Amino acid sequence: MISDAPIFELKNVTKQFGSFQSLTDINLQIQAGDRVALVGSSGAGKSTLISLLNGTIVPTQGEVWVLGRNLAQLRPKLLRQIQRQIGTIYQQFHLVDNLRVIHNVNAGHLGRWSFPKAALSLIQPLDVDTAAKALIQVGIPEKLYERTDRLSGGQQQRVAIARVLVQNPAAILADEPISSLDPERSREIMDILRQLSQETGKTLVTSIHAIEFARSHYQRIIGLRQGRILFDIAAEKLSDAMIEELYKMDEA
Ligand SMILES: Nc1ncnc2c1ncn2[C@@H]1O[C@H](COP(=O)(O)OP(=O)(O)O)[C@@H](O)[C@H]1O
Ligand SMILES: [Mg+2]
Repeated sequence: MISDAPIFELKNVTKQFGSFQSLTDINLQIQAGDRVALVGSSGAGKSTLISLLNGTIVPTQGEVWVLGRNLAQLRPKLLRQIQRQIGTIYQQFHLVDNLRVIHNVNAGHLGRWSFPKAALSLIQPLDVDTAAKALIQVGIPEKLYERTDRLSGGQQQRVAIARVLVQNPAAILADEPISSLDPERSREIMDILRQLSQETGKTLVTSIHAIEFARSHYQRIIGLRQGRILFDIAAEKLSDAMIEELYKMDEA
C-alpha cells in the first residue's frame, strides 16, 4: 500500500450498462479521513459510483485506484486484500435474517478467517469479545444473541455497521444507509457513522437522499446529475441554487 496516496481515485471513469451510460468521465480523489456525501436524484449514478469504489463493478473506460493501486491491474489475491480494506453498508442491510446477531457481526471476519474457522463459528461463536465491543460502539450491546430478524430496521442497520467495524477497513462506503428508516432512526445512524469516522479516522463515503444530513454530517458534498459531477464542494459552501440545479427536472 502506498501510504500517502488517496484512498480512492477515479480517473476519467465512464460506466456503461449496455447502451446506457450510467457515469460519464468522472474524476475525483478522496483522501484518508475524508467524510464525503454523494447526493443526486434517483438514477443519477450514486450506487454505480459506490460499486466502482468497492470493486464490485469495473469501469467501461478509465481507471479506479484504491489505496494507491489500480484495481484493473491487480491479481485476484491482492484485489481481495484491497477489497477487504473497504467496508460497505447498504440500504437493505444485507444481513442473514435467521441468524443471531453475533454471527452477522462476525461475518466481518470473513476473508480473514479460514473457511473451517468461519464454518465452525456458526456453531460456536468465536471472538465474542470483538463482536461485543462492536455492538457497544453502535449502542446495542444487549442484542448480541438476539435473532437478527427480531430487530427493528434501525437496530439491523446498527448490526450492519458493527459487522463493518469487525472487518476494520480503511474506508466505509454506505449506499443510502437511511433510506428505509424513519427520521429519528435516520439521525441516529447518521450520528453513529459520523462519530465512527471522527474517532477512528476512517474515510466515509455515503450516498444519501436527505440533503440536510449531507450538510450537517459531512465535510464535502459531491452532486451527481445524470451521471456527471455537477459540483464537488465543501459542505458549508453548498448553496440553495446548487441544490435546485441538482434536482431540477430534466429537459425532455
Ligand atoms: N446493473 C445495471 N444494469 C443496467 N442499468 C443499470 C445497472 N445499474 C444501474 N443502472 C442504471 O444506471 C443509472 C444509475 O443508477 P444508480 O447508480 O443505481 O443511480 P442512483 O443510485 O443514483 O439512484 C440508472 O438509470 C440505472 O437504471
Ligand atoms: Mg442508488
